Amino acid sequence: MFVHRWRDEALAEARRVRGHCSEDLKFLKTWAAKPLTTGAVSPSGRWLARAMAAAVDPLWTGTVVELGPGTGAVTAALLARGVSADRLVAVEYNPDFAEHLRARFPGLRVMVGDAYEFADTLRHAGVADVAAVVSSLPLFTQPPLRRRHLLEQSMKALEPTRPFIQFSYALVPPVPAEAGSWTLDVSGWIMRNLPPARVWTYRKV
Ligand SMILES: C[S@@+](CC[C@H](N)C(=O)[O-])C[C@H]1O[C@@H](n2cnc3c(N)ncnc32)[C@H](O)[C@@H]1O
Repeated sequence: MFVHRWRDEALAEARRVRGHCSEDLKFLKTWAAKPLTTGAVSPSGRWLARAMAAAVDPLWTGTVVELGPGTGAVTAALLARGVSADRLVAVEYNPDFAEHLRARFPGLRVMVGDAYEFADTLRHAGVADVAAVVSSLPLFTQPPLRRRHLLEQSMKALEPTRPFIQFSYALVPPVPAEAGSWTLDVSGWIMRNLPPARVWTYRKV
């Protein structure tokens, strides 16, 4: 009995590690081909993914919109947090990653599209009420005005106090706080992520 349980746990761990390795490799190959759009050499670690998901309350009504899901590190954390797959919409630019996500998370709505065209992309997806936006986009590869435009569109879709959550490795925020429009909080450094990252949370005033 004990041996069977030990064997099952060892097999599950081996499958998990194999899954991570193949995702790391897929990510690295994509980064080598498209460094600016991919924005990182490997997927976010589980500590960072959990910190992003922790800012979402699964009891909020509406759809959680994930921007730049990649191979699904943050998606998995959102699902583990209790956001059901039918309340999550993932917007990914890279069709290979989108295909990977559909296979990894059956029932998840994956849109191939440009997250910076936030309003149009959500209209196409038929999403009207947005509970939270969770973004892993490499915002620093974009000019400041384009980043701000994305935040503005997201804030229009969100109810007051609901968050736009973004991680970055940078010392400065991707978009500054804007009095009268949105507030900004930053987490401590998540040192277990490589490279260490922080989570920036914007809330509509
Ligand atoms: C830094 S990776 C993060 C991936 C994953 N969320 C993670 O944390 O491991 C950035 C992701 O954003 C996607 N991306 C970049 N530009 C995009 C855009 N304009 N619209 C949608 N996705 C985009 C990339 O293809 C990539 O999957």
